[in-house]
Amino acid sequence: MSAGAGIDLVSESFFANPFPTFERLRTQAPVYFFEPFQCFILTRGTDIESLAKSPHFSSRRANELLGGLGLLGEDAASKEMLAHWSRLVFFQDPPRHTLLRQLIMKGFTPAALERFRPRLASLVKGTLEKGLRQGEMDVVADFAEPIAINAIAELFALPEADRPRFMRWSKDLLKPAGVAVGTDEVRSSIRRTSNDMVAYLRDLVEKRRAAPGEDLISQFIAGEQGNPQLAGEAVIQSFQMIGAGFVTSTNQLTNTVLALLNHPEQLRELRADPGLLRGAIEESLRHEPAILSINRLCVEDTELGGTRIPKGRFVHAMTAAANRDPEVFPDPDRFDITRAPNRHMTFGVGAHYCPGASLVRIEVEEALRSLLTLPRWELAGRPYNYQGSNFQDRGPSSLHVRFPRS
Ligand code: HEM
Repeated sequence: MSAGAGIDLVSESFFANPFPTFERLRTQAPVYFFEPFQCFILTRGTDIESLAKSPHFSSRRANELLGGLGLLGEDAASKEMLAHWSRLVFFQDPPRHTLLRQLIMKGFTPAALERFRPRLASLVKGTLEKGLRQGEMDVVADFAEPIAINAIAELFALPEADRPRFMRWSKDLLKPAGVAVGTDEVRSSIRRTSNDMVAYLRDLVEKRRAAPGEDLISQFIAGEQGNPQLAGEAVIQSFQMIGAGFVTSTNQLTNTVLALLNHPEQLRELRADPGLLRGAIEESLRHEPAILSINRLCVEDTELGGTRIPKGRFVHAMTAAANRDPEVFPDPDRFDITRAPNRHMTFGVGAHYCPGASLVRIEVEEALRSLLTLPRWELAGRPYNYQGSNFQDRGPSSLHVRFPRS
């Protein structure tokens, strides 16, 4: 498309505000071939739904995705990493996908998460008190990260002393998501991190097998038993859930706080009517999502949105763009905590719909409930940036906020 000339999908300024670019693509080239990555970009909700449903597009793409990012060499570490990643639920099609979903969803029901809520609420309260003692806090490092890591760590009963290590591992693992990975050194550190984390979890699963508890690892072990097709999945799927649950939640917590700071009239409305809390969460998921896209591999020449897609090409579907489609969301750039209906695509579409959605929602809800007990919040003046964001993850790398007493 000629309208695509000069389209930027990789710079920090794109990640700071990708929405004008998405708007331009959606109106001028909704199925756009992005030369630098040799992939297609979708920006219309209807095309994204077709992609998710079509048998011509597959989630079995670990080899192609990791290989395309330069993460796979001939060395043993690459082979080991690929062997693990090829088994993630994220990278399966039915029938394997259906089987693994049953395993991971057992312990992850909305009812189980509701039982976790009081523990989460006290964890949030403790984290905020600690942050507040400094008078000003970095919402990312002092609030969102500790909440996100401890929430997932409590659910999987990860030993307290090892949680900082999990936090480091999870951050490193997401470096390959969506865009270029950088140097050989970064690539080999990602392989090392992935293999170290799986080795650690293999040990932990053995310990839990000997002494089961109420945690998700124990539930995955119980689900594995008696089904040879699921042998070893407790290790791999724990790796997947822990890896997927940290950076995403951190970014969503931070994006929500920032959205409310940037829309003080909406924050005032929320203070006046706490019944708007869930609406505020859905609106920040729509307007400032932690994840920009999903992707699939084309496995058979086909057509999508009037464009021919050849076998072997990746398609990146910008769910964040679909969230701003004026055909679906009137006045889509307006941040409106009373918006209803609000059927955003932030947690994906169809069979791969995010299993962590309920957890994220209660994390953000408890975090906001706690922050709303403070009479004022304001940006502490230091600029924030979106360094480290990629097609998949988007959030400021730090966000300094002050809480004056009156
Ligand atoms: C705001 C935070 C989050 C967002 C925006 C998000 C978004 C998504 C999206 C869009 C997908 C679909 C991917 C696809 O179709 O290929 C997905 C899948 C997944 N998410 Fe999340 N996620 C979040 C948090 C979490 C958390 C906290 C966990 C774990 C506790 C988690 C675990 C997973 C897993 C395991 C999958 C793969 C599911 C499958 O392939 O069937 N996510 N997520």
